Amino acid sequence: MRGLKDKVVVVTGGGQGIGRSLSLRLAEEGCKVAILDLNPAAAEETVKMAPAGSISVYGVDVGDYDAVKAAIDKIEAEVGPIWGLVNNAGWDLPKPFLLTDRALWDKIIRINMYGPLNTHHVVAPLLAKRGGGRIVNIASDAARVGTSNEAVYSACKGGLISFSKSVARELASKGVLINAVCPGPTNTPMMASVLGEGEQAVKWKDAMLRGIPLKRMGEPEDYAGIVALLLSDDGSYITGQAISVSGGMNMV
Ligand SMILES: NC(=O)c1ccc[n+]([C@@H]2O[C@H](COP(=O)([O-])OP(=O)(O)OC[C@H]3O[C@@H](n4cnc5c(N)ncnc54)[C@H](O)[C@@H]3O)[C@@H](O)[C@H]2O)c1
Repeated sequence: MRGLKDKVVVVTGGGQGIGRSLSLRLAEEGCKVAILDLNPAAAEETVKMAPAGSISVYGVDVGDYDAVKAAIDKIEAEVGPIWGLVNNAGWDLPKPFLLTDRALWDKIIRINMYGPLNTHHVVAPLLAKRGGGRIVNIASDAARVGTSNEAVYSACKGGLISFSKSVARELASKGVLINAVCPGPTNTPMMASVLGEGEQAVKWKDAMLRGIPLKRMGEPEDYAGIVALLLSDDGSYITGQAISVSGGMNMV
């Protein structure tokens, strides 16, 4: 991909799953990757899989504005001026909406909505001041087609898409390009914990597969190319888009 060599890119949630795959691909493309993750030990495992010196780790809860600000200041001082931000960290505990409570809503909103708000608010001014940069938000096709047992999570992802488009309009004149990528059901540790085990897990997985024309679950590697493209020179005329990468599950 053109224009990625030596670019500093922050990836949230790079400790496992989709975020690990994105971090490794960006490192392979020559980026200097800084991972913000609640679980720095997991992120250190990602570091071991990458070319030496290409990824650094900052233990941060993206829901904590002050912690995000402190980490971004440190990255700018230690790694270099940030070019790209990938908001990938996410979380859910699936339950029928009527069985959820305010404490669960708050936790889901804190991670999936306040997390990206915090990182945009801290990083985007740096990009704008320097004349440009890129932000990619990992949303979900759950935002576009809905998902039973994930109503609040889906609302956050829908909010993230609308937020991406709105800030993309605000910051286009500053050269800051912002897009969302919407994965479908993907084989990651998050999916494994959502599905659980046993007969019910097999039933849910079969039901998901029936809705995917390409007849397989996503793999974390399926998203790395599009994210790299959106951060690269080849993405310089793309902003405000929500791009589904979900085996054709959603064709709107
Ligand atoms: N797996 C799927 O089927 C699927 C489908 C659509 C969208 N997504 C989205 O893709 C993204 C990655 O999902 P995944 O399945 O790889 O998840 P995962 O749970 O496997 O990995 C998430 C990573 O984010 C980190 N994290 C969680 N909360 C954090 C916080 N508050 N601060 C910092 N780091 C935090 C975790 O430590 C972990 O390393 C999420 O935004 C998720 O909503 C996943």
